[in-house]
Amino acid sequence: MKPIFLQNASELITLKGLSNAPLVKPVESDLSIIQNGSVLIDNGTILAVGQTTELKEMYPEKTSAADVIDASGSLVTPGFVEPHTHLVFAGSREKEFVMRLKGASYMDIMNAGGGIYATTEQTRLASHQQLYTQSFERLDRLMKQGVTTVEAKSGYGLDLENEKKQLEVARELNQKHALDLVSTFMGAHAVPSFYKQNPDEFIAYLINDVLPVIAKEGLAEFNDVFCENGVFTVEQSRRVLEAGKRLGLSPKIHADELESYGGAELAAELEAVSADHLLCASDKGIDQMAAAGVVAVLLPGTAFFLQKKMANARKMIDRGVPLALSTDCNPGSSPTVSTALMMNFGCLQMGMTPAEVLVAVTINAAHAINRGSLIGSIEVGKKADLLLFSVPTHHHLHYHFGENHVKSVIKNGVVRVK
Ligand code: NIG
Ligand code: FE
Repeated sequence: MKPIFLQNASELITLKGLSNAPLVKPVESDLSIIQNGSVLIDNGTILAVGQTTELKEMYPEKTSAADVIDASGSLVTPGFVEPHTHLVFAGSREKEFVMRLKGASYMDIMNAGGGIYATTEQTRLASHQQLYTQSFERLDRLMKQGVTTVEAKSGYGLDLENEKKQLEVARELNQKHALDLVSTFMGAHAVPSFYKQNPDEFIAYLINDVLPVIAKEGLAEFNDVFCENGVFTVEQSRRVLEAGKRLGLSPKIHADELESYGGAELAAELEAVSADHLLCASDKGIDQMAAAGVVAVLLPGTAFFLQKKMANARKMIDRGVPLALSTDCNPGSSPTVSTALMMNFGCLQMGMTPAEVLVAVTINAAHAINRGSLIGSIEVGKKADLLLFSVPTHHHLHYHFGENHVKSVIKNGVVRVK
């Protein structure tokens, strides 16, 4: 593989020195911006980062033998990391969307057998190949938006066979698609109708019959639960997450999305890698998350699409919680692949600064999936996942809102979008 020399970036955002822990209160200087910056890429990884003249002097042979990418006038950032998606699913739910516009609530629709149940029905009917083809196309769309690593949850199978099917699709996508995938088991996404009268039995089934197989076959790294009034209680969530922990799966939680329910507190208690949504998280929960170092993955697309008040990002940052942003890409509550839009929401609807937003979609997002030492910043030794934009500075990403400004995507040292 020929080296790549990306040179003359008007603003090269490196985010240097943040690989060990997520950052709580990023300021502009934490972005470690290099003007007239360049990156030398060799064998899929970053070999050197610095000013263009500097790197040419240090690596005369490599830089002259390399494929040159001229980034004059362009912003360059680390690839975006999506730490929360429900990537693998079949079907769509646009009819429910119209019902919601007329006043039906997300939970009403779900309780009437729609929502997650509707997608589960379609996903169960789909073959491995059908799910693979549809999800591959979705990954292509994410990649065009600048996403280079994607967390993907199961949770539309709700039984061993179909949860496995979703995770096997994700595994094959990780092998064959240019993007990297990280898998999360989310069997506790909804109580299937068979167990409706006995949710505890479903939890026992997940713990005794499903989780051990998922762990044994190495199909997931994380274990997630929809902890919400009317879905899984805090106690049930704790049980399933602790069982996963014993098998080596790190906990994540869909917490306090629709009501203040104790999800943030549970995330802190279990030292979850992240707690996600948090629209209604209590002050106590937020403080406990800060103390336990749990990353808050905020999903403004969901709040927007369900027409709810956005999570209180400002309060979380001020109280010491590190933030990541993600799309929640799924067919019900957030059918979007646009990281750019999430970034715009961060700045324009959640009171975050452009620096906070950039950290939230790169290095903090990487920490939310335990990948902080591998991706999320432009540093020597890290994966060469880089984005080149058609705008000169990161402020333009918000100033010209609602647009995909990504011009090129370099993933593992290979130019994938140009
Ligand atoms: O993150 N809240 C639960 N799960 C997803 C939505 C899944 C769906 O509606 O299909 C979420 O919002
Ligand atoms: Fe979700």
